[in-house]
Amino acid sequence: MVLVLFVRHEIEKGLTMEKEFWMQAWEDRRIGFHQSQYNPVMTEHYKDLELKDKNVLIPLAGKSKDILYFIERGANVTAIELSEMAVKEFFEENGIVPQLSKTATHTIYESQGLKFVCGDFFSYSPDQGKHFDYYYDRACIVALPMEMRQSYYKKIESLIAIHTDIFIITFAHNGPKDFGPPFYVPEEEILTAYKNIGFDLNFTVFNESKAEGRFKEAGIDKMKRLHWKKQI
Ligand SMILES: C[S@@+](CC[C@H](N)C(=O)[O-])C[C@H]1O[C@@H](n2cnc3c(N)ncnc32)[C@H](O)[C@@H]1O
Repeated sequence: MVLVLFVRHEIEKGLTMEKEFWMQAWEDRRIGFHQSQYNPVMTEHYKDLELKDKNVLIPLAGKSKDILYFIERGANVTAIELSEMAVKEFFEENGIVPQLSKTATHTIYESQGLKFVCGDFFSYSPDQGKHFDYYYDRACIVALPMEMRQSYYKKIESLIAIHTDIFIITFAHNGPKDFGPPFYVPEEEILTAYKNIGFDLNFTVFNESKAEGRFKEAGIDKMKRLHWKKQI
């Protein structure tokens, strides 16, 4: 019992620290992950898939332009992001005026084809059970420290179903283990985590480069980008 309480306390402490880190990152404009164009690897994956009227889950969404790609293809997107600054910037920069409503835990910004949930992903539950047809995840897993990632995989499990198409993009480096975000996440961890929640994934390395800037200063030499899909 004492151990259970201790573990719960450590997870809650980790959650609070993680949230504070990201709120501050947006305030300080440490948002080098943000892309001003659609992610080309993402568009390649979805180009031949039917998105019209499908439900798409985009967790830890930032102010990603990729959200617009799905809306333009006729999908219904649910994006979730902690930082109100990010959510507001998404609407302002894209010239969209949303309607606002509040739940006990989140602020909901809605516009044509988009429900942008502002608040903590870990306390988000959709109105009707498992219903997402597509789950698109870019730079989310590596945004979370190791002690948070098991909760993340569990949360994803509660939101997707066996029919859900999965497309994940991660950014990998070879340590040190406490550097991040983006954190060092072994490929084996992701394969095992998704297998444990019922999905066999395959990964492909689509880009490799030498480390630069803060990565090089931290002793990292190699970086790579990977995408992950369900095995066919
Ligand atoms: C590395 S960024 C990736 C953003 C986006 N997926 C993209 O590709 O631009 C991670 C994002 O997760 C958000 N985030 C971190 N913890 C969160 C949480 N507990 N709930 C919701 N969003 C969170 C951060 O504010 C940040 O915008």
